[in-house]
Amino acid sequence: MVYWYFNLAMKNLANKKVLFIICGGISAYKSLETIRLFKKNNAKIKTILTKSAKEFVTPLSVSSLSQGKVYDDLFNLENETEMDHISLSRWADVIIVAPATANTIAKLSQGLSEDLATTVILASNKKIFLAPAMNVRMWEHKSTQNNVKNLKNYGYKLIGPEIGDMACGEYGEGKMADPQKIFEEIRKFLSKKIGNKKIKALVTAGPTNEYIDPVRFISNKSSGKQGYEIAKSLCERGFDTTLISGPTNLTINKEIKLIKVETAEEMFKATQQNLPTDIAIFSAAVADFKLNKRNQEKIKKQNNLTLELEKNIDILNFVSNHNSMRPKLVIGFAAETNNLDKNALAKLTDKNCDWIIGNDVSKKDSGFGSDFNEVTIYFKNSKDKKEKLSFKKKSEISEEIVDRIVSHIN
Ligand code: PMT
Repeated sequence: MVYWYFNLAMKNLANKKVLFIICGGISAYKSLETIRLFKKNNAKIKTILTKSAKEFVTPLSVSSLSQGKVYDDLFNLENETEMDHISLSRWADVIIVAPATANTIAKLSQGLSEDLATTVILASNKKIFLAPAMNVRMWEHKSTQNNVKNLKNYGYKLIGPEIGDMACGEYGEGKMADPQKIFEEIRKFLSKKIGNKKIKALVTAGPTNEYIDPVRFISNKSSGKQGYEIAKSLCERGFDTTLISGPTNLTINKEIKLIKVETAEEMFKATQQNLPTDIAIFSAAVADFKLNKRNQEKIKKQNNLTLELEKNIDILNFVSNHNSMRPKLVIGFAAETNNLDKNALAKLTDKNCDWIIGNDVSKKDSGFGSDFNEVTIYFKNSKDKKEKLSFKKKSEISEEIVDRIVSHIN
């Protein structure tokens, strides 16, 4: 196994693959300058021009600057034989849509795939950045704002728009971000990706079900959202990611190895089978107890029922104390309703973690089941140091956690 080989000192974008989608707006001309910046920094570029983009910039100028082929037609046999729309999105490390017009934003929000650009995006498993550009009224319109909200929820990242004078003579928000700003945002994202795919990360997520009889079980309110988001962020940064998940309604992209389990015992076995790993993050809300003896038949109705429970194996404890296969970085979670600092720090020590991520689950709209969370990270090697990640979406919390993982192991 290769440990800690990271390419973060990357000065330029050599070998980074950028798929640049240009839509039809007056600021399409700025995309030529953005492409030039990427080329100057040695990125590999492929471009897609929508039909209306060709009214603003020519395929010839785009191809001269990108030094590559310009793709434009979903039903072009030559293009599809050379690189079909699925391979195009798989090829890229990142996809940029600049300018992203109100029309394209609306199509993406609806999940339409009526041309090459929207089909590639819909079929993509990569991070997608949008640089919106449109008239201020179009930008402020409720339907555009709803579409943007949708897209943010789907995980798209927005760069801009900015406030300023517009080509149409009006003033306000809707101006496309400058080429340098777009370039810097993407460069920042790409430099956070790890250099090779051999660094393994394992994440546990969701609840476990502990059966009383064939139809009844003890469980908890974990939705798996926090763990799934962490797995997604790790995968986006280039980690070879395995997600061991208790029962949830969530889906995850195919690049992540997903192992579905139901009970703590199954989660434990799956974890063992996926060691060694470089990093392990335990976000699952594993049931602490299981039935001493599970009834093979459905228990009949009765006035009183006494269940005898016994302790489940602690998966995190097992992994963090493993003689030969302890991951380099073991991160636990602590869900607490009171004394967060004290209880989380106790778990950090008791469970031999490198970091523990505490969430105060007594707060409304945060923690179990919610799309939002607020966490504090506690570190073993600097016990006085803790870092609070304030109330935000679980996807954003996950990105910040993975930022710290990448800088730590760097
Ligand atoms: O799933 P969501 O709805 O998105 O909610 C996210 C979350 C609140 C469940 C998550 O952020 C979280 O806090 N997960 C840990 C919940 C928990 O039950 O913690 P704990 O204090 O019981 O356990 C401490 C740590 O030991 C955890 O890392 C847990 O995964 C691990 N553990 C616990 C028991 C056990 N038998 N095996 C374990 O590995």
